[in-house]
Amino acid sequence: MDESAEFLVFGATGQQGGAVARALKAKGRKVRAFVRDPESRKAKALAAEGIALIVGDLFDADSINRAMAGIAGVFSVQTSSPAGEITDEQEVWQGKAIADSALRQGVRHLVYSSGGAAGKGPTGMGHFDSKSEIETYVRSLPIMSTITRPASFMEMMLLPGLGLPQGEFTFFMRPERSMQMIAVDDLGRINADILVAADRFDGKTIELAGASVTGRDLERAFTAAAGRVITYTRFSDDLLAQNPFLNRLTELLETGLLVGAADIPALAREFGPLMSIEEWLGGHGKPLFEAALTDGTADVALR
Ligand SMILES: NC(=O)c1ccc[n+]([C@@H]2O[C@H](COP(=O)([O-])OP(=O)(O)OC[C@H]3O[C@@H](n4cnc5c(N)ncnc54)[C@H](OP(=O)(O)O)[C@@H]3O)[C@@H](O)[C@H]2O)c1
Repeated sequence: MDESAEFLVFGATGQQGGAVARALKAKGRKVRAFVRDPESRKAKALAAEGIALIVGDLFDADSINRAMAGIAGVFSVQTSSPAGEITDEQEVWQGKAIADSALRQGVRHLVYSSGGAAGKGPTGMGHFDSKSEIETYVRSLPIMSTITRPASFMEMMLLPGLGLPQGEFTFFMRPERSMQMIAVDDLGRINADILVAADRFDGKTIELAGASVTGRDLERAFTAAAGRVITYTRFSDDLLAQNPFLNRLTELLETGLLVGAADIPALAREFGPLMSIEEWLGGHGKPLFEAALTDGTADVALR
């Protein structure tokens, strides 16, 4: 994309979109962020960094069309049902609405951020299967497109309720088993690289991860970063029996679907070094980890 190209980023007040918008800006590119509330703290922070705001709502197709005017490349991301704001059907509607609008408004290239479980057959989890449906739709349209499928974000491990303030950490994998993860900043940087080099990535589907870690790896890294012992255990059988959502995610990890399919060395060759858990804990993850250790209420999207 030439230097005058302008990029439209959805979800820019959130984790992924925020990282993509900032990475584009850091490359000296023109960025427009689609925001619901320009007066929110996160929207104001984007504006203060020189990112233009355009107000709209993903349920309002006209506002999406207005935001697309004059745009060369779009980063598309939607929230999903586990966040509690939308249904799986609404996620699909929003993902299709962005793609339709990009085509209608003559946008050159669309990057759709999907998820690591998508495109591998039905999962029985609505917020994964919704992404497979959006991927198929995007690919059916006569527009240049790239699909990125991020692994679980490292930031997810700092959500409350996973035991860190008590010196414990519980998560999905068995202690000796691994799963791929990615730091949100790496995700932002890679998607930004893809947006500016549209021709090179048109038609590609790219699984994204920066590290493959076991429960034991997390125990070691968290213990070193905390300066006190953090023990790792997988979610207990009792918890899984009571929580069908966590149980299904854990099953998908055990069957291999959620382990992650990214070729991390190939990604590093293409996009440069990716953060390990230790590097993330020493960088952007540090204040978030410290907050999670103290009271378990880290705002994982906070910059
Ligand atoms: N967490 C993981 O490990 C992981 C891994 C792979 C894929 N994913 C997928 O990532 C997606 C979520 O991405 P994220 O974590 O970056 O999201 P996030 O941090 O929750 O942010 C959501 C963004 O979407 C915006 N938004 C929500 N509803 C909107 C609407 N109606 N109109 C306009 N903007 C709206 C929010 O704006 P406001 O500021 O106005 O609320 C915010 O900017 C989900 O689909 C999830 O399944 C997650």
